[in-house]
Amino acid sequence: MDTIRILGIAGSLRKGSYNRSALKAAQELLPDGAELELIDLHGIPMFNQDDELSMPPVVLEFKRLILAADAILFATPEYNYSISGALKNAIDWASRPYGKSAWSGKPAAIMGASSGSLGTARAQYHLRQILVAQDMPVVNQPEVMIGNAAQRFDDKGQLGDEPTRKLIRALLAALARLARHVAAGPAA
Ligand code: FNR
Repeated sequence: MDTIRILGIAGSLRKGSYNRSALKAAQELLPDGAELELIDLHGIPMFNQDDELSMPPVVLEFKRLILAADAILFATPEYNYSISGALKNAIDWASRPYGKSAWSGKPAAIMGASSGSLGTARAQYHLRQILVAQDMPVVNQPEVMIGNAAQRFDDKGQLGDEPTRKLIRALLAALARLARHVAAGPAA
């Protein structure tokens, strides 16, 4: 595999989202041989199982991007101790129809930013649980939990905090290693 193509998904629709800003920072912190394309979840309707065999075009395109990627980087907000409804909804769409999940086996990494002090820890563990259902290999360490986000990002969304940048760099390196390992297939 020459270049690792990572798809970055922000779980917040908010214009000034810290999580989208964290993904933008990640684009500056990639290891050699990796690229990061960002998407957000605007326009994805509420999941209705009646429509899973004739999905709206926006959902088909979302699934296509996931399938084409070598790895996924989630940046999740924490809403009431869990992931956002927008992110869960998008994960549900792309997991359907049964047996045709776009997520299945796809290497992933998780980070998250929140205005609270725990930095999305609770949401991240919920997201990990959801990704188990999709049989996704997920980077365990480092955990990138960006608490007190208002103090780490400036008003233009730039992430100036050097310890956080270092953690994101390490997470991306681990994700690229995991993606290459998965692509190489099982050892003989
Ligand atoms: C929040 N927020 C929040 N923060 C947190 O640390 N733990 C939580 O449980 C919650 N719960 C919560 C619920 C709802 C409905 C909202 C709108 C917000 C605050 C949250 O961390 C903050 O809004 C972040 O800025 C959200 O991420 P984005 O939009 O900046 O990416």
